Amino acid sequence: MIISGKDIAAQLRSDMQQQVEAMAAEYGRTPCLVVIQVGNDPASTIYVRNKMRAAEFCHIRSQHLLLPDSISEQDLCAHIAELNADNDVDGILVQLPLPQHIDEEHVIRAILAEKDVDGFHPANAAHLWLHQPLVKSHVASIYNPVPDYGCTIPCTPKGILSLLASTGVELDGKRAVVVGRSDIVGKPMAKLLMDRQCTVTVAHSHTRDLPAVCREADILIVAVGKPKLITKDCIKPGALVIDVGINRLPDGTLSGDVDFAECKDIAGFITPVPGGVGPMTVTMLMQNTIDCFRRRMLQGKE
Ligand code: GUN
Repeated sequence: MIISGKDIAAQLRSDMQQQVEAMAAEYGRTPCLVVIQVGNDPASTIYVRNKMRAAEFCHIRSQHLLLPDSISEQDLCAHIAELNADNDVDGILVQLPLPQHIDEEHVIRAILAEKDVDGFHPANAAHLWLHQPLVKSHVASIYNPVPDYGCTIPCTPKGILSLLASTGVELDGKRAVVVGRSDIVGKPMAKLLMDRQCTVTVAHSHTRDLPAVCREADILIVAVGKPKLITKDCIKPGALVIDVGINRLPDGTLSGDVDFAECKDIAGFITPVPGGVGPMTVTMLMQNTIDCFRRRMLQGKE
């Protein structure tokens, strides 16, 4: 069965519109997201446009701050400091990658953790790794994929938990293999799955006999950026397969990290590319913005 991230994302965004309307009535204003783009990288321009459109749909106020790629790290951080201090701004996102002369780690650290809607700030990452909410009492659904960690969870892994919840497959006790160990997807995904009582293996470029490791997986999550790395000999029959990769092939078409045509009849559930994980990531960015706003309101800040 094919999991349509596009349809689930549309359902979630309609729900978020209602959440935002209710918040406007309760708090007298709507959440506000600022997206900072440095330079004119064409892929970044498309990603940022998608984020602004999603915000508009959810009735989240948004601002696109386009800065020249000649900007210094210091000046970029000064913009961030201004937004940190602005009580009307709830979420700040700096689109990555940044030009080479700017240290991404410094920039991510410059964002106030409570406004870090990506969940990349070390305070949010540490919180995710050190905190284990009561998962047993948590009923996961597409609307409520993670228990309350009290911090921002990175958008892609959070969206994947929604997709997993949409299948109704029980995660407790299952074997999960995460291929890829990035800070943005692989590592937080592994922690979230451990918290859902999965036995988790993280595979990567040095893993020996990757197909044999993948064949162990009841839940296979692939986030490496290598087109069609995962072939049919990597899939356990009936497995739940989530493809995070978005790769442009020489003929101009898009391909995931999974060979979809070859794997779709062996997997029990599988996400397509495009229309799988991608729309969910943007949707979870909206949810993270709403959640940052709500936490700030509850702390009495406006
Ligand atoms: N560039 C590609 N993906 C992302 C993302 O999720 N967040 C940010 N800030 N930049 C990105």
